[in-house]
Formats: sequence, C-alpha cells, structure tokens
Amino acid sequence: MATSSALSLFLHLILFFFFFFLTFSTLQASFGYDNAPDDPLHLIEVTSITPAHHCTKLGPVRQTPGVVGLPLAHRHGPCSPIFHEQPPSMYYRSVLHKDRMRVASLNGFSLKRKTPRRSLLIDGGSNAQLPITSSSEFVVTVGLGTPMLDLVLIFDTGSDISWTQCQPCSSTLCYPQQGQMFDPSNSSTFSKPPCSTSSCSYSIDYADGSHSNGYYGQDTLTLTPEYVFPKFLFGCGQNNSDGYGGAAGVLGLGQGATTLISATQSEFASIFCYCIPPTESSTGYLLFGLKALEVCQTSTFTPLITDPSRPSLYFVNLLGITVGTKSITMPSSMKSRAIIDSGTMITRLPPSVYSVVQAEFKNLMKDYPAVPGSDLLDTCYDLSKYQNATIPKLVLNFENCKVPLDPSAAIWTESDSKFCLAFSVNKNHDDLVIIGSAQQRNLNILYDIQDHKVEFGSGSCGE
Ligand SMILES: *[C@@H]1O[C@H](CO)[C@@H](O)[C@H](O)[C@H]1NC(C)=O
Ligand SMILES: *[C@@H]1O[C@H](CO)[C@@H](O)[C@H](O)[C@H]1NC(C)=O
Ligand SMILES: *[C@@H]1O[C@H](CO)[C@@H](O)[C@H](O)[C@H]1NC(C)=O
Repeated sequence: MATSSALSLFLHLILFFFFFFLTFSTLQASFGYDNAPDDPLHLIEVTSITPAHHCTKLGPVRQTPGVVGLPLAHRHGPCSPIFHEQPPSMYYRSVLHKDRMRVASLNGFSLKRKTPRRSLLIDGGSNAQLPITSSSEFVVTVGLGTPMLDLVLIFDTGSDISWTQCQPCSSTLCYPQQGQMFDPSNSSTFSKPPCSTSSCSYSIDYADGSHSNGYYGQDTLTLTPEYVFPKFLFGCGQNNSDGYGGAAGVLGLGQGATTLISATQSEFASIFCYCIPPTESSTGYLLFGLKALEVCQTSTFTPLITDPSRPSLYFVNLLGITVGTKSITMPSSMKSRAIIDSGTMITRLPPSVYSVVQAEFKNLMKDYPAVPGSDLLDTCYDLSKYQNATIPKLVLNFENCKVPLDPSAAIWTESDSKFCLAFSVNKNHDDLVIIGSAQQRNLNILYDIQDHKVEFGSGSCGE
C-alpha cells in the first residue's frame, strides 16, 4: 500500500513537470467551449455524428511497440476486430435493449422477473456478491498465455471479473467467437490459483439472461509489449451463453478486489484512462499508469466516491446539468450520487431533471423537423436534409468541476434520418443516476483510484 501510493506520487510529480506549462496555456483553454463561449449551440456538420460504413479514424494509439495504449473500438462498428455487417435497425434495437437490461440490473431488479435479485455470484470470493451488469459495447485486444494468444475482450468498468472462453468446451456450452479460443493446455505459463475447491469456480449471471460459468486460472497477460503481467487471475469460461457478439470474453475494470486494476497496482498505481470514440466508425484508447497520465491530458477533476455496498462501481457527485444557457440542478431531496459507467450507453436522469433538459433541448432544436421516438429516446429529429446543424451545448456539473460534452455526446444517431437526444429518464425518482458512455464520447476520463479522483479533459480520439 505504502509503496503504491509512493509510486502514485512519483507518477504525479512526473506529470506535473511534463505538463506544467501546458496546463496553464493550452489545456485549460482547449477544454472549454469554442470561440463563442456564450453561444448556447454547437455548429456541427451532420456527417460528424453519423457513423461511416468503414473505419475512418484510427486515433493516435495503436498496439505496436513504442506506442502505448490499447485501441478501444465500438464492438459493432467497422473499427472493431470482430465487426460483422448487420442492418443498423437490428443493431440499434439490440443495443438499446441491452441498455435497458443493464440499467434494470444496476437498479437491483430484473426486467424479466420483476423481483429484486442479486445476480452476480462469485463462489467463495471475499466480495461474495456484486451488482450484476450486462457487458459494455466496446472492445480491446489483449494477449493471454505463452505463446501469447490475442483475445478481443469487452471492456467494462462495471465488472470485476475478467474472463474468456477456454478449451476444451463443447459447442453447446461455448458460443462461436472470432479467432481461436484460449486453450490452457497450450500455454506454458498457465496455472490454477491456490484455492480450496469451492473458491476455484466463478459464476456470472447477467441481467439480460446471459451468463458465464467456469473455473479460475492464472496466466501471463500482455496488455502492450512493454506491459506484461504474470499470474493474472481470470475466469476460464466453460459454460457461456452468447450475447458477446463474437468477443472472447470480458476485461473487468471495476475497482473491486479481483480486477485488472488491483492485479496491476504496483505497475500502474491504480490509474487508467480512456477515450470513448465519437462515432461507431472511429477508434478510442485505453491506457494505464504513467502512459495514461502522459497521453490523457486532463484539466479538472471531481472526487471519486466509493460505496461499500457496491465496491466495484465508480461513483461521483453530479450536481446538475446545463443545456444551452439553462442550468438545471439535481433535486435537493435526492443524493447527488451518480455512477460513471462504460457499460450503459444512455445517461439516465431523474424525471424532474430530465423533463427540464428535454424541454430546453426541444426549445433549442425547434427549427428542425421532429420525428417520433421510442420510450427510451423520446426526443428525435430528422437532420438528413441538413449539411450542418446547430445543436445545444451540454455541460455536466460535477462536484468541483464542469465538464462540457462533445457535440457527439448530445445526440444518439439511430439512423441516417433519426437523431435523438441521447439522454433518458429514470422510471423512479430514486433510481440510480448513470452517466452513460454516449455522454463520455471524445473525453479523456482518467480514474485515479488511490487519490479518489476522476479527471476530465477533452479527448483526441476520433480526430
Ligand atoms: C495450440 O498449439 C498448437 C500446436 O503448437 C497450435 O497449432 C494451436 O494453434 C494452438 N492453439 C491455441 C488455441 O493456442
Ligand atoms: C450452464 O449455466 C446455466 C446458467 O448458469 C445453467 O442453468 C446450466 O445448467 C449450465 N449448464 C451446464 C451443463 O452446466
Ligand atoms: C457547413 O459548414 C462548412 C464548414 O464547417 C461550410 O464550409 C459549409 O459551407 C456549410 N454548409 C452550409 C450548407 O451551410
């Protein structure tokens, strides 16, 4: 513990000297509005929020020696290593359905069963029960074993366990994945962790009905050529339902005891950052430790709050939200607590806040033709006839900092002719407020767990 906080301090000192001058000149300025700070609207080209059919933007980070991070791709988009062409309508339906399931599970009930239940059970683990989550929409590629096998895993800050399908596994118990399935008997560095029989197995039951069961294994994890971790603990899936779109499993980045974050603490001091790409056809990045501090420039932070009852989730205080020039504060009757989640797409707001956000958004979008929405995204427009559009500026007001959102974060592009306000409303007044990945687009978000901070800056993914 003492060594790792010393390391954290060291990393921060380096960062401090690195960016001392920058911080007061370019960084501060770059993380605000463009040249017209009082203008409630962003002028954008409509194509900038419409995904292309091919991977257009590779971003600055590639998994090659000397370059430091992991590319982060939308798993259904053309930059994904497991991309399968499918009709957009099918894809959007499935994404939004998953999103509902995840939010239901975060709120502690299942849409199917309508009764409270806890669904993620880790047999024998010290943190025996954790909230369930269905997994996120973004993938990264990591290497496992010796010789190393590349695995495309779903990146999820809401999950603690990392797992991958393991051979031998019958085709009825494992789903078809893109690329080879990990085979422990092929890896010279694979071992089973020392454990009593009961703690050797894991079982994850996701809210959408998907699951992964298996046993724990340990093997060498290669994040990038310079970051290699022996004896990384992960789940070897022996009974996994489909629903991962061909990904080999999940990379859990929650802050619980068994995660990648704790396993790499001595090297990375529990620091990581990511940038979620602005469209499905561009690439973001995921970085750890010193590289995260160097590459993910940030200029402001909000305190990170740990909730002992949900130790894996990243809580922050959200005080309000600004739409155009109108600021809406969270109701004083409710705790301002919100989670930042990579696995929920669409931000969920309390009914009283959402109704004002929606009204102000409608007011600022009144020049555009409205089209019918759905219950999840109920405020939609047809922008297909426009080359450029003016869309409301949005700012999330956290404790200690204001975070202006990227234009791509305001609008969910459902089709070439349907563009919706990318926020939704919670059913109940006291449901969890969730900052979804759509609102995190093109931001650098840096998690510094030991210093209890979440830092923000404008991202450079998709540029
Ligand atoms: C296992 O090893 C064999 C022989 O070296 C190789 O042909 C095969 O591709 C390996 N499979 C996996 C999943 O690593
Ligand atoms: C696979 O997992 C599911 C869900 O946990 C369970 O219902 C089923 O019995 C398991 N099948 C086998 C063969 O273990
Ligand atoms: C849209 O904006 C671009 C610059 O971003 C400009 O060159 C173009 O003329 C604009 N188009 C229309 C129709 O206003």
